[in-house]
Amino acid sequence: MKTAATEEPKRAILDARVVGNRLLCRDHYCLTLATPSLPRAVAGQFIHINAAVAPTNGCSSVEQPSDARQTAGGAPMLRRAFSMADVRRTDEGVEVDAIYRVVGTGTRWMASLGVGDAVSMLAPLGNGFPINKAKPTAWLIAGGVGLPPMLLTAQSLVAEGVRPVAFYGAQSRDLIALTIDPSVPPRSDAAEAVAAATEFTERDTPVVISTDDGSLGFHGHIGAAMAAYHATNPIKADQLVVYTCGPERMMRFVAEYCVERGIECHVCMERAMACGTGTCQSCVVEVKDADAQDGWRYELCCEQGPVFDARRVLWEPNKTT
Ligand SMILES: Cc1cc2nc3c(=O)[nH]c(=O)nc-3n(C[C@H](O)[C@H](O)[C@H](O)COP(=O)(O)OP(=O)(O)OC[C@H]3O[C@@H](n4cnc5c(N)ncnc54)[C@H](O)[C@@H]3O)c2cc1C
Ligand code: FES
Repeated sequence: MKTAATEEPKRAILDARVVGNRLLCRDHYCLTLATPSLPRAVAGQFIHINAAVAPTNGCSSVEQPSDARQTAGGAPMLRRAFSMADVRRTDEGVEVDAIYRVVGTGTRWMASLGVGDAVSMLAPLGNGFPINKAKPTAWLIAGGVGLPPMLLTAQSLVAEGVRPVAFYGAQSRDLIALTIDPSVPPRSDAAEAVAAATEFTERDTPVVISTDDGSLGFHGHIGAAMAAYHATNPIKADQLVVYTCGPERMMRFVAEYCVERGIECHVCMERAMACGTGTCQSCVVEVKDADAQDGWRYELCCEQGPVFDARRVLWEPNKTT
């Protein structure tokens, strides 16, 4: 039996180097970080990153913002959280992919990083998606930048003998952060999941794609695409687990759809995270608790999450249990 002193750490602050930072589609990049080691990580966990030193050799033309919340080098004051899209063991150590959309100070700094830049990475954090091998099918429902954890989850499910089907929605075709195979177009009626996206096909996962404007795949939001797929591909509730990540409104739709039908569902919540390790209390999620005075209480998204059982989440704005 291992003593506490020799147990592998659950997380670590790691010196990482950028080995890739490529544009995937409008506003979306894939940042690849290499590090000599990484404690054991599972799908749904996240990394918390910031500059090790202010970046000086950025290769991107993205303009550096003028913002009081950043350092002179353009990096944010606080770390930013990103789901792990992939984790690969290499001869030199470990490579981690983070897929991000440029929305503000931190992600603009990330887009300015070039190969060789130093990044401080606190990882892995959070709890990750539970895999239920007793249920043979899993649906992965992603909206926008909810995509990254689903790639790693698809890989983990296949390794455990579970059959994943991915659902991915974006506002329009130019915001789809996947490589679309022109010979296998996604179905516009969502009646079938197909090998339309290389990143999922490589993980033995067919996909249903939706766009809000109808420019690719199903015309509508990804929750509606999931419901349309379900109508033509009925499945018993006890044979299915649903995982979802993306905008809160979309996750709420998926969560309520599943809870009403008795389908096991796990949601990956997002909160602003200052510390990522349970210290600052900045990342609360309201969860139902029959024993609490008002029927609910707070849990920390960084420590007890980011993955929560869909039945427990108290969705804003109506705090009814
Ligand atoms: C557990 C976890 C996992 C995450 N995984 C990912 C991931 O894989 N990929 C990813 O891109 N992001 C992910 N995020 C969100 C990511 O951390 C934020 O996008 C990031 O913190 C924004 O930082 P910023 O400094 O660029 O924006 P800020 O300067 O902090 O914000 C600038 C503006 O952008 C808005 N904004 C912030 N986040 C978003 C958003 N997601 N979409 C639209 N507007 C936004 C803010 O409201 C604000 O108005 C994750 C967050 C958490 C908590
Ligand atoms: S981010 Fe500090 S407690 Fe969760």
